[in-house]
Amino acid sequence: MDIKSAEFSLSAPMVSMCPNDTKPEYAFIGRSNVGKSSLINMLTNRRKLAKTSATPGKTLLINHFIINKEWYLVDLPGYGYAKRSKKEVAKLDQMIRGYILQREQMVNVFVLVDSRHEPQAIDLEFIDWLGQSGVPFAIVFTKTDKLSGGKASQNIANYKKKLQETWEELPPMFLTSSESRQGRDELLDYIDSINQQ
Ligand code: GTP
Ligand code: MG
Repeated sequence: MDIKSAEFSLSAPMVSMCPNDTKPEYAFIGRSNVGKSSLINMLTNRRKLAKTSATPGKTLLINHFIINKEWYLVDLPGYGYAKRSKKEVAKLDQMIRGYILQREQMVNVFVLVDSRHEPQAIDLEFIDWLGQSGVPFAIVFTKTDKLSGGKASQNIANYKKKLQETWEELPPMFLTSSESRQGRDELLDYIDSINQQ
């Protein structure tokens, strides 16, 4: 799929303030600093469309980007950032989960996990919650450029094993890097296939 246009649409502090239209949208979620905003920039070929930062906690609102004037990519705040106050964590959590459960035009959530790490409880909990809530999702392993040899595939095999302890059916999985651009075609084709349904 060609990205002909990619534009910032709006930033919302709650689901009721998201764009008032019914175009399909794809949301990116995961721990702070996992690479959500960078992935959106990589997919759209726009270096500064979504704001990125080496400091976790950059994205604090629900950010909509309209692609080819037909569908949206949605950049969400990260979960599990330890340096936030309890109140702030709870507020963001409510915002993220409210968006995911209430936004009917949200057709798929991409859950980003760092390809370098063993399965983390916070991600597994979030994935279980999505599964239990019946939300369609895929898992995106990020930052594969930071791993050498077969390490990424090995970590992904571990991840599958872990998920199989709970789930019979595994979600689609993608290996990506915003640096090397690995996984770009696969993700865009996946989005395209859903848009065509
Ligand atoms: P929050 O908005 O804080 O939740 O973070 P985020 O998930 O949007 O992460 P962001 O895209 O801002 O990236 C965080 C840091 O990781 C930045 O310093 C990025 O340059 C770096 N980064 C993101 N993706 C990759 C990648 O694929 N490879 C490498 N090497 N670095 C990456
Ligand atoms: Mg971000």
